[in-house]
Amino acid sequence: MKHFTSVHDLDSLDEALKLAAELKKDPYKYQSLGKNKTLLLVFFNSSLRTRLSTQKAGLNLGMNVIVFDINEGGWKLETELGVIMDSDKPEHIREAVPVIGRYCDIIGVRSFAKYESKEDDYEEKIIQQFIDYAGVPVVSMEAATRHPLQSFADHLTIEEFKTKEKPKVVLTWAPHPRALPQAVPNSFVEWIRETDYELVVTHPEGYELAPEFMGDLKPEYDQMKAFEGADFIYAKSWASYKDYGKVLSKDRNWTVSDRQMAVTNNAKFMHCLPVRRNMVVSDSVIDSENSVVVPEAENRLFSAQAVIKLLLDEINK
Ligand code: CP
Repeated sequence: MKHFTSVHDLDSLDEALKLAAELKKDPYKYQSLGKNKTLLLVFFNSSLRTRLSTQKAGLNLGMNVIVFDINEGGWKLETELGVIMDSDKPEHIREAVPVIGRYCDIIGVRSFAKYESKEDDYEEKIIQQFIDYAGVPVVSMEAATRHPLQSFADHLTIEEFKTKEKPKVVLTWAPHPRALPQAVPNSFVEWIRETDYELVVTHPEGYELAPEFMGDLKPEYDQMKAFEGADFIYAKSWASYKDYGKVLSKDRNWTVSDRQMAVTNNAKFMHCLPVRRNMVVSDSVIDSENSVVVPEAENRLFSAQAVIKLLLDEINK
């Protein structure tokens, strides 16, 4: 594996899952693997879980870890080629990225969709420039269209909590006051389609995910119907893809509550966090014993550690 930006970068999903489970049992097993190696985590956007879990993952592997909030301590970056740089952005990404690459062995990047241009976001303009110019492996810590470390942790969590071989997993849109990225739902769908779970995606009309992620999977517009017999409910808000970046609905009938959970197969409730209580999910559901949001967040550590370990193996070859 040269970089990690999606499930398709893994040589073997099964082996990666096994490795994450192994690391969960013994987090310090490969403590000397990252000796004298540096992990540099670049954040263009805020984070709690990704920041802490990826940092800890590097430390568990014996790496030096640098966290860089580029918009706070760094120069504002110009990301377009060919522009006259007379604005408030004194540094170009074309120089910044190779320079960052000289200070580390692996780079993690968080760069959300800007929702200014569908083309720019879906071409992954920012993380792709890191891949093109850094000269070292790049790990996506959530890019414009995918959040693969989250999806890896989600998959690990479903494996841990499932009570049947092929659980029914439902991804449901939920209301939110702001336009949120499509990275988590895109990535979740892409990742779960690699398994033999039954996957159902439900959302109001207008919230269809990009065809490249849905493939031949058709959305179920009736949320109650989608929830029937579900073993896992994965809630997430996202803005429209078709009407790019727009909030088309704030209908709180879609808020996951006891009403919908009652028709499931005693489903576990999942969310990547942070979550807006009583917008996305009711207090009663997220506080119930079926909520696995905290163990899901804990698994972020082991998904990150597995990915970094695989990249270190490649570097050390
Ligand atoms: N789920 C997730 O990525 O959380 P943070 O945004 O806090 O990192």
